[in-house]
Amino acid sequence: MAAAPCGLLLVLLLLASKWNLRLHANRPSNVLPLLCVVLTEIATSEDSLDAIKTLRDEAVARLNQLGKTSDSKEFLERTFLSPAAIRAGKLVQEWMQDAGLSTWMDDIGNIHGRADGANASAPALLMGSHLDTVIDAGKYDGALGIVSAIAAVKMLNSNGKLRSYVRPIEIIAFCDEEGVRFQSTFLGSAAVAGVLRPDILSVRDRSGATLETSLKARSFKGTRDSLVQLRYSPESVWGYVEVHIEQGPVLEARGIPLGLVEAIAGQTRLKVRLHGAQGHAGTVPMAMRKDPMPGAAQAIVSVEKLCRESPTLARVPGGGGLVCTVGEIFSWPGASNVIPGEQVAFTIDLRATDDSLREEIVGEVEESIRSICRGRGLSCTIDKMHEAKAVGCDKDLMASLKAAAESTVLEVPGGGGVDAPAADDLVPSLMSGAGHDAMAMSHLTKIGMLFVRCKGGISHSPAESVSDDDVLASSLSLLHFLNNHLEHEQPAPI
Ligand SMILES: *[C@@H]1O[C@H](CO)[C@@H](O)[C@H](O)[C@H]1NC(C)=O
Ligand SMILES: [Zn+2]
Repeated sequence: MAAAPCGLLLVLLLLASKWNLRLHANRPSNVLPLLCVVLTEIATSEDSLDAIKTLRDEAVARLNQLGKTSDSKEFLERTFLSPAAIRAGKLVQEWMQDAGLSTWMDDIGNIHGRADGANASAPALLMGSHLDTVIDAGKYDGALGIVSAIAAVKMLNSNGKLRSYVRPIEIIAFCDEEGVRFQSTFLGSAAVAGVLRPDILSVRDRSGATLETSLKARSFKGTRDSLVQLRYSPESVWGYVEVHIEQGPVLEARGIPLGLVEAIAGQTRLKVRLHGAQGHAGTVPMAMRKDPMPGAAQAIVSVEKLCRESPTLARVPGGGGLVCTVGEIFSWPGASNVIPGEQVAFTIDLRATDDSLREEIVGEVEESIRSICRGRGLSCTIDKMHEAKAVGCDKDLMASLKAAAESTVLEVPGGGGVDAPAADDLVPSLMSGAGHDAMAMSHLTKIGMLFVRCKGGISHSPAESVSDDDVLASSLSLLHFLNNHLEHEQPAPI
């Protein structure tokens, strides 16, 4: 990329001082490429500093501000339709307007910001993520995708490209992804994608309030019809792009700020119940017991063993990304002096990007548990509580996002620069083990996702952390994507 020589030195000096000594000392070579791109896209050196301000500094400040927009004083909590969620929505709406977008809140509380571009009726490019959080949350999960998209669009607007963009651009801050309040994930994106459960209005939160009454209490219509109308027609959208923190340790271990999501894992959730004979802990001899607890323990260990070592895993590269978790265990009556014969139950969560591999392993797990129960004279039931197929990201969108991420990784501090691994490995492909709004949006349109490195892979915790430069990487990758898209989709000049 050719950089205008004018102002280069000045900006180099300014940025070097801005990016403090760590960067300056270790990786001076990183500064130059970023300047190149900033300078090619923007005319003057002052503008290039504005770019850093918008894409990094302002984005970081906004993430911090959202991180303080909470229903609790002690920790971050912003659940569906809560007072803090409404305040956060207003903030996001202001930022969207500042980026040149027209905004509105829809009938379930999603915040939309849209620019019509050159042709208001062309299929729109949607970008977004969720604005709600879990309880005692980190400030990047969801918010990063929204804030980065706004920063990228703000740059496009200040470069004068937003009004003439090849298609409408719409950012959506989804109102509910975590499902904390109604235990039903993706309320916001499922509404836009038209895949809300038909009975959703009668679902109750812990206080007993239905979704219908909760919506009405916030002056939403709260009718079946109003929710159905939130659905976008497939013809009106071109695709959906989401940036999200990785919530896992792979990118940090690889020393790379961005990863390309290949697929969102499919999932099976099982509930296993083992029954034996209840009895007194002191009076029933060991040989005469039918105790489901050791049976459950053995079954849990067998699940781990199969998910690590089953020969089936060798059939698919990388073992299909299979991961298995027993996260909940329950025993009845649950007293220290009672053999819990009545019931010991546990859950198994199995995820993989390869659906047939997941199904095969589920079969092996069931067989193994049944044989353990038979061997111990226990009766057991295994119920499938939830099943979702893996969602593949769109190949073309993946290629565009990968190109955008590759240029970004070479430009940003902490991206590796000249120390980066071979070019074909610059942006690792990852599977998403967690569900995301993109999963719901895949029912409406093609999807593409980038992951951003987070410290220690920690998420759903106040310890969640993304460096300022990785926030820059996040926004800049979307800006590159938008610019590349603009070039590729523009009709050839006559
Ligand atoms: C605008 O987009 C619509 C829908 O794709 C298309 O039918 C129409 O021809 C476009 N108009 C112009 C002026 O390109
Ligand atoms: Zn999330």
